[in-house]
Amino acid sequence: MSDFNSDFWPVYISAITVISILACIVLLWTLSTKRVATGGKAGVTGHVWDEDLEEYNNPLPRWWIWLFYITIVFAVIYLALYPGLGRYPGLLKWSSRGQYEAEQAKARETYQPIYAKYAAMSIPDVARDPQAREMGQRLFLNYCAQCHASDARGGKGFPDLTDKDWLYGGDPETIVATITKGRSGMMPAWGKILGDEATRNLADYVIALSGGAHDELRAAYGKELFAANCVACHGPEGKGNPALGAPNLTDKTWLYGGSSTALVETIGKGRNGVMPAWGEFLGDEKIHLLAAYVWGLSNAR
Ligand code: HEC
Ligand code: HEC
Repeated sequence: MSDFNSDFWPVYISAITVISILACIVLLWTLSTKRVATGGKAGVTGHVWDEDLEEYNNPLPRWWIWLFYITIVFAVIYLALYPGLGRYPGLLKWSSRGQYEAEQAKARETYQPIYAKYAAMSIPDVARDPQAREMGQRLFLNYCAQCHASDARGGKGFPDLTDKDWLYGGDPETIVATITKGRSGMMPAWGKILGDEATRNLADYVIALSGGAHDELRAAYGKELFAANCVACHGPEGKGNPALGAPNLTDKTWLYGGSSTALVETIGKGRNGVMPAWGEFLGDEKIHLLAAYVWGLSNAR
């Protein structure tokens, strides 16, 4: 980019623009006054196609020439008003950045009082306000729906935000923290460390934890492996740990699927769900509205 910050390019571009406009004027002027020298025969240029198709040597039609002059006048006026010549800002002082900032300032003026009003209210109160819920939903559809789905029910790897099952916790403060700072779930890969058999045994034990159909023997082996390798994060009873985002394995809510195949993959290859941080991009007031919307989805209004 440093090339574009030097003084050479603005001057170069301005020179090309001005020279092109002048060249157009000269060209039009000569074409409308002078006739091309004919090749002997009067009235024709001497160019012949298809044996007898001859080109007449007439000046360009007036109206057509005038159209060109009008475009040149337009160009000159445009370049005087708008920034088109190097660093010259134009008489109107217009710039795309200026226009953007003016629009932003106008939007801030309109919405700031509304944001401020809700920022001063508690999240449960905001969640009960129909206008705030609508604003929260619009923000959600803009920024969150691509991962959590427009109904916030999520999908494989993206948590359902409408149920009472939370990875990190569902109280207002925790939801605000999740959205502001983001989250990164670190489930290590065990396949290489423990081997395929152990991974399958663990999968059967995890299925047993939530009461699904499983192989008793495998689950018994899995139980020991679980106690040795998994309790640090998922807890002795497999109920999870919100501080780490380690899911509760005893319920029927699955982030990555509860089938034997899905569990073997999760345990064997590990998982790393990433929730982006929005603090800087959205700011506290929008996050307050979003948190209220999300909290409201699973709490009585
Ligand atoms: C790029 C995808 C993506 C986007 C966009 C995204 N999220 Fe998430 N979100 C995730 C993932 C993945 C997780 C789970 C993280 C994990 O597995 O540890 C998550 C987790 C969460 C949680 C924690 C759920 C729990 O059970 O504790 C909340 C709350 C949340 N997101 C809200 C939002 C909101 C509000 C937005 C919009 C501002 C948003 N997310 C945008 C991917 C996304
Ligand atoms: C370092 C902490 C840690 C250890 C140790 C750990 N896990 Fe996990 N586990 C997690 C986290 C965090 C997640 C959520 C990953 C995500 O959000 O992407 C997870 C997710 C899972 C899931 C997916 C649950 C679902 O809802 O889809 C299963 C199954 C699982 N772990 C089983 C195990 C087993 C079995 C072990 C022991 C072999 C184990 N974990 C050891 C942290 C851990």
